[in-house]
Order: sequence, then C-alpha cells, then structure tokens
Amino acid sequence: MSSRGTGEELPAGPRHIAIIMDGNGRWAARRGLSPSAGHKAGVERIRDLLSACRERGVEVLTLFAFSSENWQRPPKEVELLMSLFHSYLGREARRMRDEGVRLRVIGRRDRFSPRLQKAIAEAEAVTAGGERGTLVIAADYGGRWDIARAARQMAEEVAAGSRSPDSVTEDSLAAYMTLADLPPVDLLVRSSGEQRISNFILWQAAYSEFYFTDTLWPDFGTAELDMAIEAYQRRDRRFGGRNDGGLAVQA
Ligand code: IPE
Ligand code: IPE
Ligand code: MG
Repeated sequence: MSSRGTGEELPAGPRHIAIIMDGNGRWAARRGLSPSAGHKAGVERIRDLLSACRERGVEVLTLFAFSSENWQRPPKEVELLMSLFHSYLGREARRMRDEGVRLRVIGRRDRFSPRLQKAIAEAEAVTAGGERGTLVIAADYGGRWDIARAARQMAEEVAAGSRSPDSVTEDSLAAYMTLADLPPVDLLVRSSGEQRISNFILWQAAYSEFYFTDTLWPDFGTAELDMAIEAYQRRDRRFGGRNDGGLAVQA
C-alpha cells in the first residue's frame, strides 16, 4: 500500500462514488456547438471511468444522468437525452455483462417511453449476474422523490396494519431508500464548478465527502478521478465523533 511522507498509511479509497455529471452544455457552447453535442461527448466518458473505478477498487459507481427537473429542458434536448440513454443501454449492456458489472437504474421510470422502459429492464436482466462491480444510473431521479417514495411505502404498511407507527425510525426508513443494499456513498463528485446537490441523493449523502471540480463533464477523465480519490483519502471522516485519540480524554 502507498504511504504519505510521514510513513503513515493512506486511508482506504472510496467503495462507492456518486457523480453529478454536469457541464455538457457549457462544454458544447465553448465550441460553438449545441447542447446535444455536449451530451454525446459526455456519454463517451462513462466507459473508461467505469473501468478506472474497477481498477481502483471502487465497488459502486452511481451516475446522475437525468434529474426529475430535467424534463423542463427544451423538448428536443430531452428527446436527444432519451435517445442517447437508449443507445447507451443497447451498446454497453453486453460489454458490462462480459466485464462482470451489474447495472441498476434508479428513478421513476413510468415517465419514460415503453421502448426505453423495456431497454432498461433488458439491460438490468442481461447484467444481473455481475459480481465485479455495480454501475447505478440515476435517471428521472430526485432525492425528494426517493424519500417520499420510501415514506409512502411505510405508510401503506402502517395503513394495512402490518407495521406500527413506532417502528418508523431512521434505520427502518433507510432500508426503503434506493441504494440501501449497496455500500454507503463515500464520495460525491460534481463537475462544472457548480456547488449544489440539485436534488440528487439527499438521504444517502448525509455523510458523504463532497468534491467539486471546475472541469466540465466531457473533459472529466481518469486524472480527474484520481484527484477526487486523493482528496477523499486526505479527508478526516469523523461522523460526528472525535478522531484525535488521546486528546479526547482531556475534554
Ligand atoms: C449535464 O449537463 C447533463 C444533464 C443535466 C442531463 P448540462 O446540460 O446541465 O450542462 P450545463 O450545466 O448546461 O453546462
Ligand atoms: C443536475 O444538473 C442533473 C444532472 C447532472 C443529471 P443540472 O444542470 O440539471 O442542475 P442545475 O440546474 O444546475 O441545478
Ligand atoms: Mg447543468
């Protein structure tokens, strides 16, 4: 294992990285191109990034591809994003299966065309046996939707008499959130210089480390990934506690 100058061992890398892939529009505008060209270039970054994550021991990569608010974009742009998602699934699902990567899509789904819904289900089925890593794509996803959905499922159980109101706790609600069965999100990255969460994972990011970079998504490569991971490894994750060893007893 590599070590810092002090001889101290570097802390473990993140098991789960989530990325808000932002900046496609600005990348395209700087080149005098339409946002669509930026989205196309952005999709091209995913394959190498996924491999790089696997090489670095990252077990789960979660990508924010389309937010529940992104339906407000111009219809032509929404259409292009849907068609890019569809062709990505068709092109990459078999490759993921061959590499042992399991694909999961989180988000609403019912607002997608039946054709896209079918492609999502097929890609998930084709890759279901993957045991060498997980790629999660958040599409028509919103963090508030996720929390509301979990609350509704519990409310239905209370209404049906199979659960008592007292049993609704942080731990029991956590089990209903998407990603509950995966390692916690250690590192949340956003490209393009914006420093906000834009309704991405809210519950799940409670103790994630945040990393913001000015790099626009279509320029985000392995070097950027390594910078984010290195920054993560320098963080002191306290989870509300105290990590200063002996000093704690002097309080
Ligand atoms: C992110 O790029 C991709 C999606 C939101 C689908 P943007 O399209 O938001 O890029 P900017 O923020 O306009 O540069
Ligand atoms: C967040 O980016 C959604 C995705 C990257 C998929 P946006 O570009 O939609 O977010 P805002 O509008 O800048 O907050
Ligand atoms: Mg944006």
